[in-house]
Amino acid sequence: MNAPVSPAETLRSALSALLDGLPPRQAAHAVDRLIANYRGATPTDAPILRDRADVAAYAAYRMPATFEAVRAALDAFAAAVPGFVPATHTDVGGGTGAATWAVSATWTGEREVTVLDWSEPALALGEDIAAANPALRGARWQRSRIGAALTLESTDLVTVSYVLNELTEPDRAALVDAAAAAARAVVIVEAGTPAGYARVIDARRRLTDAGFQVAAPCPHSAACPIAPGADWCHFSARVSRSSLHRQVKGGSLAYEDEKFSYVAATRLPAAPAPSRVIRRPQIRKGQVLLDLCEPDEQLRRTTVTKRHGDLYKAARDADWGDSWPPDTARP
Ligand SMILES: C[S@@+](CC[C@H](N)C(=O)[O-])C[C@H]1O[C@@H](n2cnc3c(N)ncnc32)[C@H](O)[C@@H]1O
Repeated sequence: MNAPVSPAETLRSALSALLDGLPPRQAAHAVDRLIANYRGATPTDAPILRDRADVAAYAAYRMPATFEAVRAALDAFAAAVPGFVPATHTDVGGGTGAATWAVSATWTGEREVTVLDWSEPALALGEDIAAANPALRGARWQRSRIGAALTLESTDLVTVSYVLNELTEPDRAALVDAAAAAARAVVIVEAGTPAGYARVIDARRRLTDAGFQVAAPCPHSAACPIAPGADWCHFSARVSRSSLHRQVKGGSLAYEDEKFSYVAATRLPAAPAPSRVIRRPQIRKGQVLLDLCEPDEQLRRTTVTKRHGDLYKAARDADWGDSWPPDTARP
């Protein structure tokens, strides 16, 4: 019997099918144009994803990475709120639906899914590729403009993935407030840059002001201990590179690391990580250095040595973004 195919694999083959028939040079050209647009002034007054070629290029080039980033954020959220399985999910600024795929990879089973975006071609293509994923076949793909007038129907989960960057400051606030009013859980993901982190921190503050508890990545819901401008909290997700990636960016690396910042918050009881590894661990001879965000609102470096026995073994396996210590190594 064949092993069941994961949503990640299904997405990968749906995306490569998308490029079948599109001459490689045309696909590469659409990606170049898109990158140039995204480097230009955002927010814009009208969608950047304007036609099928734009959207196919976006989906093939960026969706595997946004999918992996959202999935990593959802995994951390699910670990902090283990009883939660969303029965309803709204993906705002969902575009071609990367976050809906990530939700289906995190929680199996059926749910009501709604994707909202102002780009009709993005929604249309998202719906086409979602046909390959049984969990998304009943999804509603609806045109909606994020702005002061935005209200959302009550839902278990709202995701906002790589969208805040495209909005004006008032529209960002309106979106986060609408999500907080409608959802039991809100997961926001942005690029892992200083600016992306700053947008996440603003959103986090709005969510906690609205009565939400931060479930991940932070071990607490108090203010972030990072001094503004001094550093930024971000994580990394490994993404296999598609052939379109290799075509556009050159090189032969089979993967790249997507850097992202996120906040996952909820009105439900949550048990956040005891502390979180916030940089890639440094492995030295007989010791591992871990940079941790701690529940007492401090950032601290801890050194775990061979003398620590099982904890040392766990530290050698620890990864950037992990909860620390892992359940298996807790006394
Ligand atoms: C970078 S894409 C991210 C798409 C998807 N969430 C993902 O993670 O792959 C940003 C999306 O936000 C949408 N968007 C930007 N501004 C918007 C607005 N004012 N109203 C509705 N959608 C908007 C765009 O059309 C686009 O689909």
